[in-house]
Amino acid sequence: MDVYSVLKNDHDRIRRMFSEFMEKKEQVGIEMFSQLKNRLDAHMKAEESFFYPVLEQERSTHEPALESIEEHHVTKLLLGELDGLSLSDEHWMPKMKVLKEVTEHHLEEEESTIFEQARKAVSEQQAHDIGQAVGKTIQ
Ligand SMILES: [Fe+2]
Ligand SMILES: [Fe+2]
Repeated sequence: MDVYSVLKNDHDRIRRMFSEFMEKKEQVGIEMFSQLKNRLDAHMKAEESFFYPVLEQERSTHEPALESIEEHHVTKLLLGELDGLSLSDEHWMPKMKVLKEVTEHHLEEEESTIFEQARKAVSEQQAHDIGQAVGKTIQ
């Protein structure tokens, strides 16, 4: 699988996790949050290790790559704050909703814009190799 399919599959997994979160609301436990946090951390780490460094080197994808990494930064800040809050805190769920919105916007932008730009800048062989590396990191 090329990097786009590998990442798209993981995006769908992340979307499902967020939906479950919103369905369960009050019954959400700390393990569920840890699972989501681990998945997001692994996903961002894989992209920042193998995907975005390649895009940063290409003229046409340099700036979009930097912007995407800044979006990861916002996600990490929110995850860190949620991690430090009690689930019973009234700020917890509003913060969670913002994390969901920010993250879903980011996934959408990667799929609709970044991947298309990357397809023009990165060879098919390279996209396949990056997919292998990313797949190993996020499985
Ligand atoms: Fe990302
Ligand atoms: Fe992603």
